[in-house]
Amino acid sequence: MPITALSLPRSVSLSETVPPLVDPSRRSFCTQGCLSAAAVALASLSSGCGGGGSDSTSPGGSGSTGSPLASATGNVSGRVVSVPIDGSPLTTVGGAAVVRTSLGNYLLARTGQDTFTALTAVCTHEANQVSNFTGSQFACTFHGSLYTTSGSVARGPATRPLTSYPTTFAGNTVTFSV
Ligand code: FES
Repeated sequence: MPITALSLPRSVSLSETVPPLVDPSRRSFCTQGCLSAAAVALASLSSGCGGGGSDSTSPGGSGSTGSPLASATGNVSGRVVSVPIDGSPLTTVGGAAVVRTSLGNYLLARTGQDTFTALTAVCTHEANQVSNFTGSQFACTFHGSLYTTSGSVARGPATRPLTSYPTTFAGNTVTFSV
């Protein structure tokens, strides 16, 4: 007997007869699983690359890199820098300061009652600014190089000394030419 439209029980919608291709609970599980896996992968990549936010400015070596140097005022005339020491750490033997001038930044240390050293603040490793003092040595916080107050390398990765400039001291003012 031929099948006619009249012999079908009733109209049936597709949603009733075709099951969903993917179970909603299973789809949700896969989505969550993929997101979790991606998060884990990103986290491991980040740590694998040394991706900590402070790494670019953290010392690569071990040991202290001291504290940021106090600033002293530098007056520039031609290539001569004059630094009045009143009110700066340079009033005491063993003190040190950074002098920021239009000619560049310089490190000053008081090595005796009437003696000072003046050094460039440009690290000889990768030319970043040496900005810290340990109490006896200048420190570059970028990769941990340490310099004595006379500019010699006390700890690498720097291998060359800081450029130094002869100083004179009179009237509570340190003067040096660069
Ligand atoms: S720039 Fe690398 S230690 Fe100073």
